[in-house]
Amino acid sequence: MQDTKTKRRPAMVPATAENILDAARRLRAGALVAFPTETVYGLGADATDDRAVAAIFAAKERPRFNPLIVHVPNQAAAAREAVFDARAERLAASFWPGPLTLVLKRGAESRVSLLVSAGLDTVALRVPGHNVAHALLNAVGRPIAAPSANRAGEISPTEAAHVAASLGDRAALILDGGRCPVGVESTVVDLSGPTPLLLRPGGATREAIEAVIGPLGTASATGDGPARSPGLIGRHYAPGRPLRLDVTTSGTADEALLAFGPAVPSGYGETLNLSPSGDLVEAAANLFAMLRALDRPEHRAVAVMPIPSTGLGLAINDRLRRAALAG
Ligand code: TXA
Ligand code: MG
Repeated sequence: MQDTKTKRRPAMVPATAENILDAARRLRAGALVAFPTETVYGLGADATDDRAVAAIFAAKERPRFNPLIVHVPNQAAAAREAVFDARAERLAASFWPGPLTLVLKRGAESRVSLLVSAGLDTVALRVPGHNVAHALLNAVGRPIAAPSANRAGEISPTEAAHVAASLGDRAALILDGGRCPVGVESTVVDLSGPTPLLLRPGGATREAIEAVIGPLGTASATGDGPARSPGLIGRHYAPGRPLRLDVTTSGTADEALLAFGPAVPSGYGETLNLSPSGDLVEAAANLFAMLRALDRPEHRAVAVMPIPSTGLGLAINDRLRRAALAG
């Protein structure tokens, strides 16, 4: 999977206080550092440094038009970069720190690199709820731009080893903070227009967000008007094997099975269960690691059992549907 450029041993270190300070020094000097958040691992750069931000796009081989999320330690720091209205303040108070990203109008005083917004007049902000991410943000003292720490199109990393396998030494340092507890990316809500829009389902549930600010519109990526969020459309999470979704009948041994719940159909080859008890929180935490584990050449395809679309199931089904789209 790795090419010759990435064969060198990645610098993966435990996320001790000393290593977090080292990571902060490197970030301030313009280097890329991968770090854990509660959702997935991020590939961080100083968001105020154009060159460092450009290096993220290069390391991920990511198209320039896809904007990045900016991570800050608290709402006061977020308010320096964007315009908060009453809705934004209520969501921030309810969900931060945590797996919610707010797309807001860029503030006049924002120091965030224009490359981060990829030409839009908005900025996506979040306060991560992970103690390593929090310590790192405080030590850096600047906003950190961080997409998921994988090459463009690959499944997001929920363990430091996934980052090393995908990016090799393209990150100067990988802080290993263990497995990401939420396991799917943050929910992205666009508050830059009159109607709040759900741009990406994720770790904060639609139900919980709507309980705070009322109904969310759903962004239509292909409908009339410009796409609100170019990176949120189409095939994105791309395993090597085809995925067959909503499978309830028995199968054959050449197909792997990603199961959910207690009633598992028979006949399949290697089987992993996202949550034998049918718990969506457990299923989200296991999703990417299990997809990776089953994505091996000895399986012709990966069959996936149906998962309810409530709570975290909305994000799980979004990722599965996009992974299943034909290349
Ligand atoms: O959980 C997460 O959100 C992780 C961790 C590392 O924080 N980050 C993450 O970033 O998933 P990334 O870059 O893989 O996904 C960010 C998504 C992209 O699809 C992008 O299009 C959208 O957020 N986005 C970023 N800035 C935006 C903006 N100004 N307007 C609309 N969408 C934006
Ligand atoms: Mg990503």
